[in-house]
Amino acid sequence: MKKRDFLKLADLSHAEHLSLRARAVELKALRQNRALVETLKGRTLGLVFEKPSTRTRVSFEAAMCQLGGTALSLPMAESQIKRGETLEDTARVLSRYVDALVFRTFGDQRLETFARSASVPVINGLSEGAHPVQLLADLMTVEERLGSLGGRRVAFVGDGASNMALSWIEAANLFQFQLTVAAPAGYQPPATPGIRVTEDAKVGVIDADVLVTDVWLSMGQEDEAAKRRAAFAGFQLDETLLRRASPKAIVLHCLPAHRGEEISEAVIEGPQSAVFDEAENRLHTQKALLEVLLG
Ligand code: CP
Ligand code: NVA
Repeated sequence: MKKRDFLKLADLSHAEHLSLRARAVELKALRQNRALVETLKGRTLGLVFEKPSTRTRVSFEAAMCQLGGTALSLPMAESQIKRGETLEDTARVLSRYVDALVFRTFGDQRLETFARSASVPVINGLSEGAHPVQLLADLMTVEERLGSLGGRRVAFVGDGASNMALSWIEAANLFQFQLTVAAPAGYQPPATPGIRVTEDAKVGVIDADVLVTDVWLSMGQEDEAAKRRAAFAGFQLDETLLRRASPKAIVLHCLPAHRGEEISEAVIEGPQSAVFDEAENRLHTQKALLEVLLG
């Protein structure tokens, strides 16, 4: 049987996404009731990270352990890659030890190479072009808070060319909600049918049901700090912007957050913020994903 990767949202069918979210809701309730769920007993997940991580690493490790399996993390800096072993050989060897791999990397070419070389399922744990496992949690959180996704108005404020913005664009195409990306010139996403793009954050957020933001400086962009902070001034998700959205709007941020940059303290800690539920839902949605790919 051909192995299944999850490198982008479209690697699951629409029906699989719906049943994954339903299963995640079920797994969340089971965990709240301290029920023992051992659907991945005896299975092993390997995590290979070329960038830092808190949520992705720990939520995948916890997911495997709680489903009866095991997770092993290999930071790239401690691997033989640092001494010249190829990405291809690394993926081939690790595939002999574990049943699936999560890979967090820079360019999407590296992700493709790793996935092509691995003989077990590879999950994108964040690349330059996408963060699909984050979107699984984000979409679950929208449904949990607002009841449904279809027809909702989502506004993404910030770096429109970032992995998070690009994954929200993919999600809007798959799940038929309205997406507006508010980003400064030079940081806008590629033109995509059905996606509205504006340089005016105040216009972009009008009547939104969901407000999403992400850091102005993604991992690996530290050298561009001054230039980016200047470009994104006026794109902070603060109370002024929040007041222009629907009164019942929720606020999402994949975290880590930089309070006072892309989001104000008052908004991230305010009653409309769903960011910590969003972070928790990483655990439940990734359990459901692991069951699909490994079950
Ligand atoms: N949101 C997210 O992926 O967080 P980490 O970088 O901590 O994994
Ligand atoms: N866009 C951010 C997301 C972090 C989870 C980054 O790539 O650093």
